[in-house]
Amino acid sequence: MSFIASCTAAAIKDAATSLINGDLVAFPTETVYGLGADAANEIAVKKIYQVKGRPSDHPLIVHISNLKQLDKWAREIPEYAIKLARSFWPGPMTLILPRTALAKDFITGGQDNVGIRIPDQTLALALLSEFEQQGGAGVAAPSANRFGKVSPTTAKAVEAELGAFLDSKDLILDGGSCEVGVESTIIDCTTQTPIILRPGAITHLMIKDATGIEPDATKKVDTKASGLLESHYSPSAKVILDQTPKPGDGFIALSDIKTPEGVIRLASPKNNIEYAKLLYQALREADNLELSTVFVIQPQGDGIADAINDRLKKASA
Ligand code: TXA
Ligand code: MG
Repeated sequence: MSFIASCTAAAIKDAATSLINGDLVAFPTETVYGLGADAANEIAVKKIYQVKGRPSDHPLIVHISNLKQLDKWAREIPEYAIKLARSFWPGPMTLILPRTALAKDFITGGQDNVGIRIPDQTLALALLSEFEQQGGAGVAAPSANRFGKVSPTTAKAVEAELGAFLDSKDLILDGGSCEVGVESTIIDCTTQTPIILRPGAITHLMIKDATGIEPDATKKVDTKASGLLESHYSPSAKVILDQTPKPGDGFIALSDIKTPEGVIRLASPKNNIEYAKLLYQALREADNLELSTVFVIQPQGDGIADAINDRLKKASA
């Protein structure tokens, strides 16, 4: 594996060629780092599952650089989904849509729909558009962590998670730390009304405002969607919510909450947006420090707090 610290235009071009050749390329997005492969190449996609240790029937999100690529992967796109795409792409939102023949079972986990996203990150968009110029149609990319673990928000965290599992020709592109810090909002657009499958930075209210439709927040019980499993996003340390830590425990809370005596403060975000951005790095730091327990005070409110509390619930399950 090569770690590319300086992503020049030439380096991005080479990384796109690596994808075309069937190698894996980990890259930054505005949410978390993704582990990318050519979404039309079954052998390359299989490597993602091996490196992550992920069950092979869990579907992957296909990343594209612009709306013109959408029809390659999705069909019968409802009007509300087009409104969502126009309002929030590029951005932290994944739409689940009926698939075309290009979206094979090895991408969709055998389902008749496919997840699509246009990320809002300069390096990601440059890589995706270069890949498309070289003849690719889309890049499959789950979060670049081992199955069930915390998503990486820096390139160094990707290296620590996956370095030992990647091949010599695979790449990790360093694009700094991720702006949003939690994974995209996933919206099922295969029925009359949008259904939020995973909360994220595109909130219930934003979806309602953009479409004029009240989205359904009832999650379909589908164990194939790994982010929907009860336990996920977990560090090795035990995560305990809304209780008081003892000396030697880790602690994550908003900055206006004081650190109890002898407790190891892992993050003090000033607001909920910063909370989302710092959370995964703080959980990772707990493992680096080999803490056995991390106490977390959940943020209040809706919007991004919903996404944070969804991940915290799963991290603590
Ligand atoms: O922000 C993100 O979405 C990041 C970045 C890299 O784009 N990606 C990400 O991918 O979080 P992943 O695979 O770690 O989580 C995607 C979730 C999984 O729970 C997967 O099962 C679900 O989306 N998913 C993907 N395609 C689906 C589909 N067709 N139907 C239902 N769920 C789907
Ligand atoms: Mg993931």
